[in-house]
Amino acid sequence: MNRPTDPHNFVQATTATGTTEGYMPGFGNDFETEALPGALPQGMNSPQKCNYGLYGEQLSGTAFTANPPERTWCYRIRPSVKHSHRYEKIDLPYWKSAPCVDPDVISLGQYRWDAVPHSDEGLTWMTGMRTMTTAGDVNTQVGMATHIYLVSESMEDAYFFSADSEMLVVPQEGRLRFATELGIIDVQPQEIAILPRGLVYRVEVLEGPCRGFVCENYGQKYELPGRGPIGANCMANPRDFKAPIAAFEDRETPSTVTVKWCGQFHTTKIGHSPLDVVAWHGNYAPYKYDLRTYCPVGAILFDHPDPSIFTVLTAPSGQPGTANIDFVLFRERWMVAENTFRPPWYHKNIMSELMGNIYGQYDAKPQGFVPGGMSLHNMMLPHGPDKNAFEGASNSNLGPEKLDNTMSFMFETRFPQHLTGFAANEAPLQDDYIDCWEDIEKKFDGTPGMK
Ligand SMILES: [Fe+2]
Repeated sequence: MNRPTDPHNFVQATTATGTTEGYMPGFGNDFETEALPGALPQGMNSPQKCNYGLYGEQLSGTAFTANPPERTWCYRIRPSVKHSHRYEKIDLPYWKSAPCVDPDVISLGQYRWDAVPHSDEGLTWMTGMRTMTTAGDVNTQVGMATHIYLVSESMEDAYFFSADSEMLVVPQEGRLRFATELGIIDVQPQEIAILPRGLVYRVEVLEGPCRGFVCENYGQKYELPGRGPIGANCMANPRDFKAPIAAFEDRETPSTVTVKWCGQFHTTKIGHSPLDVVAWHGNYAPYKYDLRTYCPVGAILFDHPDPSIFTVLTAPSGQPGTANIDFVLFRERWMVAENTFRPPWYHKNIMSELMGNIYGQYDAKPQGFVPGGMSLHNMMLPHGPDKNAFEGASNSNLGPEKLDNTMSFMFETRFPQHLTGFAANEAPLQDDYIDCWEDIEKKFDGTPGMK
């Protein structure tokens, strides 16, 4: 690297891209990156001619007039109009979009599922997506869908983008590579990836079979939650979000691009790879985040705060404080509250809560909520600790206790979630989940005293 002559003998860092190889740190930064030297125009977006014969193109993730606007300028081998041709409708029967209300399915209830088993059939990111719930309406860009993915095969000469949604990916088994227009993101369990609406990518299996959870966000993009009195530190820190550096392929191979658009899937045939962005700059990009860097804040004297204290990312709905989606993380932490019932309390909630277990054991449900499994506590339906959790937490000696070997999450939405036919009839639903509260006793007999 050529450095300017420095009369003070400063020593400059040589890494131009931050602390994690292949990635740039920061949340929503205005990044710039080039895979070939001089490919990125400086000082302007649209020079009369771009270096290397590249085409300049803007990808807008918000309306032009949004504040702040989110957009990325791409300098690519071919403009995107060359990456789509006439479309042909295809069917991906397990990937559903809202509104998807099956009249034969009862969504009213408390539900829990074991991990959906891997299939003998080779499944890709597209064919292995299994929708569990939908909420809102994809056509009006409100709400979300939750999915389990089962992926055992890489996409080959096949590419995908969702015009409907931003995809939040939570791996539970295996390692995946998202080879995107803007660079490469590799993820494994305890990491997440966020793929913005409209971004073209191919998904490869690095270590399989792969299983995980997806929250498909139809609405406004995820952002960091307001920290309020917590202040500038803890929770998810911006530097721990990583956007990829530019990477491109110049490959002339017959390929397909599949588009999810208003809940339908269409394929188009092209003669080359669309992952041809040599350089880019902007604030609309995919990113990953290591959940182990999440710094939880909690009760340090008494009581149990609302789970919102563990929010990693929030997707606003337009009504302040009422998210389209909150992504909430329950990870290892110390429990120290005195004279307190420490697990999550019994409650009913206007928001509907879908939880997934990445690994270990969850404190409100020591049994039954297994890694890879999910639970749904829908709008205004009561839930809370089972009898064993209640009795254990009510009678234990309350010293400082490390909640270890645990990582679960919640996709919480302001909209009721509707079960798909797959969730109700094919996924391993635990029919006896509702019975976990059956043994809870009436202790009240009219006489005072702790029972
Ligand atoms: Fe809850």
